[in-house]
Amino acid sequence: MVTYPIPDPGLSSLREAGSVHIPAEPPTAEELREACTSGQFDVVVAQLSDRFDADLLDVAKLAGISNYAVGFDNIDIPAATRNGILVGNTPGVLTDATADVAMLLMLATARRAVEADQFTRSGRFTGWKPDLLLGQDVSGATLGLVGFGRIARATAHRAAAFDMNIIFCNHPPAGRTLDENEVAALPYPARQVDWPELVENSDFLSIHVPLSPSTTHLIDTDTLAAMKPTAILVNTARGPIVDEAALVDALRNGQLAGAGLDVYEHEPRLTPGLADVPNVVLLPHLGSATTKVRARMAQLCAENAIAIARGEVPPHCVNPEAVKDG
Ligand code: GLV
Ligand code: GLV
Repeated sequence: MVTYPIPDPGLSSLREAGSVHIPAEPPTAEELREACTSGQFDVVVAQLSDRFDADLLDVAKLAGISNYAVGFDNIDIPAATRNGILVGNTPGVLTDATADVAMLLMLATARRAVEADQFTRSGRFTGWKPDLLLGQDVSGATLGLVGFGRIARATAHRAAAFDMNIIFCNHPPAGRTLDENEVAALPYPARQVDWPELVENSDFLSIHVPLSPSTTHLIDTDTLAAMKPTAILVNTARGPIVDEAALVDALRNGQLAGAGLDVYEHEPRLTPGLADVPNVVLLPHLGSATTKVRARMAQLCAENAIAIARGEVPPHCVNPEAVKDG
């Protein structure tokens, strides 16, 4: 079952390999549960909006789930594993596109691009003025990377070309976990710092950690209070890493200069007040949204699904330990 049509070549590969069912409408939680327990499907090709909690996975009759995303916080992985349900994801192919969106949000927020676009469109531009819509510098600013995986590193690579000073914390809120030889070997200058130092010294704080119990509300009232009042928060990872109500308060009270968000705590719902503050740029979860990237994701997603249906471990597997002996 494919809960929402994925682009080609993914969908055509699936159709060549086996029989594919796409419901007329994306399934509700109840319909997903019925489908997963019916024994009719070997694999579900799932979207981030399809939730697979333990109570569903404990009764599901599935060989696996092929998630059309790199993230997999919509699936309870320990529950999938104990039920022998393999989970595939789509790493790598969306790294650059997501790093581009992190840069886009930094630039757009710092230079007030969305506000300025609205200003121009509405006919208010009456000529160049020394004090018109002044923003903040990106070059020379300090970029703090929350997490230092694939997407953070691709963002660092771009930020280095913008002459930003790069600091990072690999597994916040834990301290320095990356080998210093590895830091020295990076193709751009970057400094590994402890979590409090990252929060206090960043002009731009950009989030690149997966959502987990240890990263939920990592950016809370205390973190926001410790940031520079001139700082800009950027989130291209997962919404619940930020306490969005606390973020709205901080933006309103001038505790923080701005925020560029691609993901939301209660996605797709916005926390009340968020859309009313002028110093935010809000994108509808577009990190991987280019035609080429979505096609490559679909290809990986299909490869994972086909492997699972054949009884093999998928090429990009989150929980290979789900394979049970015998
Ligand atoms: C998108 O958010 C993804 O995890 O691929
Ligand atoms: C701006 O357009 C300038 O020429 O400085």
